[in-house]
Amino acid sequence: MLYIGIDLGTSAVKLLLMESGGKIVKIVSKEYALSFPNPGWSEQNPEDWYDQSVAGLKELLDGQDKSQVAGISFGGQMHGLVILDKDDQVIRPAILWNDGRTTAETDFLNYNIGKEELEKYTANIAYAGFTAPKILWIKEHEPENFAKIRKIMLPKDYLAYRLSGTFSTDYSDASGMLLLDVENKCWSKEMCDICGITEEKLPRLYESYEKIGTLKKDIAAELGIANEVVIAAGGGDNAASAVGTGTVGEGKCNISLGTSGTLFISSDHFVPTNGHTALHSFAHSDGHYHLMGCMLSAASCNKWWNEEILHTRDYSAEQSDITDEKLGENHVFYLPYLMGERSPLNDPLARGTFVGMTMDTTRSDMTQAVLEGVIFGLRDSLEVARSLGIEVEKSTIVGGGAKSPLWRKMAANILNIRLEFPSSEEGPSMGGAMLAAVACGEYPDVKSACEKIVEITGCEEPDPELAAKYEKRYQQFRKIYPALKEVFPQIQ
Ligand code: XUL
Repeated sequence: MLYIGIDLGTSAVKLLLMESGGKIVKIVSKEYALSFPNPGWSEQNPEDWYDQSVAGLKELLDGQDKSQVAGISFGGQMHGLVILDKDDQVIRPAILWNDGRTTAETDFLNYNIGKEELEKYTANIAYAGFTAPKILWIKEHEPENFAKIRKIMLPKDYLAYRLSGTFSTDYSDASGMLLLDVENKCWSKEMCDICGITEEKLPRLYESYEKIGTLKKDIAAELGIANEVVIAAGGGDNAASAVGTGTVGEGKCNISLGTSGTLFISSDHFVPTNGHTALHSFAHSDGHYHLMGCMLSAASCNKWWNEEILHTRDYSAEQSDITDEKLGENHVFYLPYLMGERSPLNDPLARGTFVGMTMDTTRSDMTQAVLEGVIFGLRDSLEVARSLGIEVEKSTIVGGGAKSPLWRKMAANILNIRLEFPSSEEGPSMGGAMLAAVACGEYPDVKSACEKIVEITGCEEPDPELAAKYEKRYQQFRKIYPALKEVFPQIQ
């Protein structure tokens, strides 16, 4: 049998074809545009997601035995707001997870409704990128669009809706809407009332590995598939990535160095944050729960630095001068807040910053500062987890950034943990294919699928001497944002 995992990302959709047993047969990637209509805003056209996914499916299945295709599932960029009218037409471009326009709405939720109340209803507080503040923004700024809303969905759920006709979501992705009572796995009536919506506008809830329907006949015909194909709900990209890296069960950790940077800690039980709301307490795709810290710009900082500033796509050439003896010695620091920051700062107005240059600072010192600054940002989330008493001694690492051996080495030493490399770096698409396999009955549950499929093929151990040098640098890094915090709002 063949299973397809679709990772609906921010810069591209990645499609992965997996055989029974977990062997990857083929991977296809299709890019689409991302627009920043105002500073700190971030939007995409849902039609592009659908068109590029169908084009990707055609390419993926070209030359394959299509009669073997049994199931499709997803890992999707989280929190994005997609709204449909009475004719099922998209009302306006989707507002994405890294969009920071909702400062006023986020403040209203956190300070007028109150963080304690929000935590009681949803287990989380409001962050600018979450879905509920975006609904409030539409209500305030685009009342004519708000009045048209009949269906509210997340990015991967829009794709699933177009492919299957089922209006659904899963608990992991729904957790990031700030509309779900995460512990009890149901929509929060209080949050619906606060946002001025009714529950019927929200999708039906499923576990990530549950079947929501089948591939529509006309789309199957377009792809040359004659048999019935199961569509499973799928998960938010971080939960799906955790499945793809075997991060299920108690106390495991996965780091994703993608457009965003995340630290994901799985748990067999619901984890209340008890006021330590810098981390999100969400449902997991294995049917249980997780904690997560998310930084908004991770590998995207390196992309921005190389492509927009240095005008190169040869990232490894830019890293070639950063030799071992330079690690832990850089006098330049970089704050990775190009889109503001979520975890742990919750500050949409924070901005990217270089500090510490002198006349002898080189281009390569600044490249090094960008790479290090991103990991220092991740370390901030790790410190919050540690303050909750969670011990993290090792983690898997995936995402585009994890392809760089230099960046992995910095990560192992700045975080001072062992980093393991799974056989597939394709976290969310691999996880999506595995969720489809579980939905089709190939594996009894997600944990068994992980045990059978995921292999660790390499690792990076921290070096005590280098970790000590980086510890000193991290303590310096930590002082920079507090010193600039008051400046950022003034320079907008
Ligand atoms: C997680 C988050 C990001 C997006 C990226 O909370 O916002 O990781 O899911 O696709």
